[in-house]
Amino acid sequence: MERKPLIAVYPGTFDPITNGHLDIIQRALQVSDRLILAIAKNPKKGPLFNLKERTDMVQSLVADLPQVEVHSYAGLTVDFARQMGATILIRGLRAISDFEYELQMAQANRKLAPSIDTVFLMPSQEYFYLNSTLVRNIAADKGDVSSFVPPIVEKRLREKFGR
Ligand SMILES: Nc1ncnc2c1ncn2[C@@H]1O[C@H](COP(=O)(O)OP(=O)(O)OP(=O)(O)O)[C@@H](O)[C@H]1O
Ligand SMILES: [Mg+2]
Repeated sequence: MERKPLIAVYPGTFDPITNGHLDIIQRALQVSDRLILAIAKNPKKGPLFNLKERTDMVQSLVADLPQVEVHSYAGLTVDFARQMGATILIRGLRAISDFEYELQMAQANRKLAPSIDTVFLMPSQEYFYLNSTLVRNIAADKGDVSSFVPPIVEKRLREKFGR
């Protein structure tokens, strides 16, 4: 049976993009035809890297993947997803710490946009405890983050913190 191409949106802060994000991107490509990486513009988080820096890093890491596009957005994720014609939201699910929050968001998003489903993907075991906060903290203390992020991100972190 013919079906419409599946468009998925993978939203996040990507401050900075880590090997965990990249793992989820690879897996998301197995369940979508077109994958839109949606970089949240003004997260209340007060990001270390500004939007352009975050976008540039992501862009350079997915440049060789034709099914992947990089966008930034403000406002509700589901509104952005709808504008893009997406029917899937991708979220990574790590240790139990993610679970409550992600469940709440998925339920809220379903209420706001019933035609969009959240698909949770589990990363490879080595990335189960990895988040961008950990990377920022280690890099700020001039620790070695080479097993957590790709080399171009490591370089940007080094420039940021001077090592
Ligand atoms: N190591 C990882 N394994 C699986 N999913 C991940 C991983 N890192 C991030 N994600 C997922 O990517 C999405 C976007 O996350 P986000 O960009 O906020 O990164 P984060 O690592 O949670 O950053 P922060 O520590 O700043 O909150 C979320 O669904 C998150 O669960
Ligand atoms: Mg997080």
